[in-house]
Amino acid sequence: MTALSLASSSLRRKSVRRVVAGGAAAAAVAAWWAFDSAPYPYAQHWLLDLPLPFLSLPRLDGMLQPRPGERILEIGPGTGLQSLHVAPQLGTDGRLDIVDIQQEMLDHVMRRAGENGIGTIVPTLADAHHLPFDDASFDAAYLVTALGEIPDPATTLSELRRVLKPTGRLVVGEFFDRHQIRPARLIGHAAEAGLHLEKLIGPPFSYYARLHPCATALPGQRLDAQQPVAAPSAG
Ligand SMILES: C[S@@+](CC[C@H](N)C(=O)[O-])C[C@H]1O[C@@H](n2cnc3c(N)ncnc32)[C@H](O)[C@@H]1O
Repeated sequence: MTALSLASSSLRRKSVRRVVAGGAAAAAVAAWWAFDSAPYPYAQHWLLDLPLPFLSLPRLDGMLQPRPGERILEIGPGTGLQSLHVAPQLGTDGRLDIVDIQQEMLDHVMRRAGENGIGTIVPTLADAHHLPFDDASFDAAYLVTALGEIPDPATTLSELRRVLKPTGRLVVGEFFDRHQIRPARLIGHAAEAGLHLEKLIGPPFSYYARLHPCATALPGQRLDAQQPVAAPSAG
């Protein structure tokens, strides 16, 4: 066998290996997409700590703008990727309430919070369709790759609108998977819930949206449903 034919057969083997590896990766992605179940199974919790494109923590900060002393609500914290990052920004006077439908997820976050000396996270086992909080309790709320997993996102957004203060803010992060809520659908459900979109960043397959409660009309006053409530001035 000549040196030329040896080199060409080695090249062919490499290409076959590449095609097989590419096919296996595509099959794995297709299987994950097709069989991805909700709620997200705790058995696969290790995957939740992997960063997702366009849904980074600095981008969440830019949209949520957590401030010391605030009370913020997180729905679907998973293993706490966002919770452990947001809670310290609220200071010792602030508080992060986390709500999940799976006790194992809440236990996981609280274990990690303890290891990191964070004592301002309060866990609640609940279904996001029925939030066990009073009206206007929170300065802000957020959900990252959680809203699409919740069977009735419209009811969930109404509940979030109810527990947010009139000047509150809601940040929704959604990533391409079988459950993803595309931006247009989010905006539609949000409008029905009395929330309006203020800002959207990232491509449609991996985006953060910031929403605000729409203004409520005073008796005898007519307001545009999309009009935001004025935020309090900084001073
Ligand atoms: C894909 S994980 C996202 C975890 C985390 N936010 C992250 O980005 O790594 C979705 C989370 O939403 C929770 N969840 C699903 N349905 C829920 C519901 N109806 N009420 C409250 N939490 C829910 C799941 O248990 C899970 O912790």
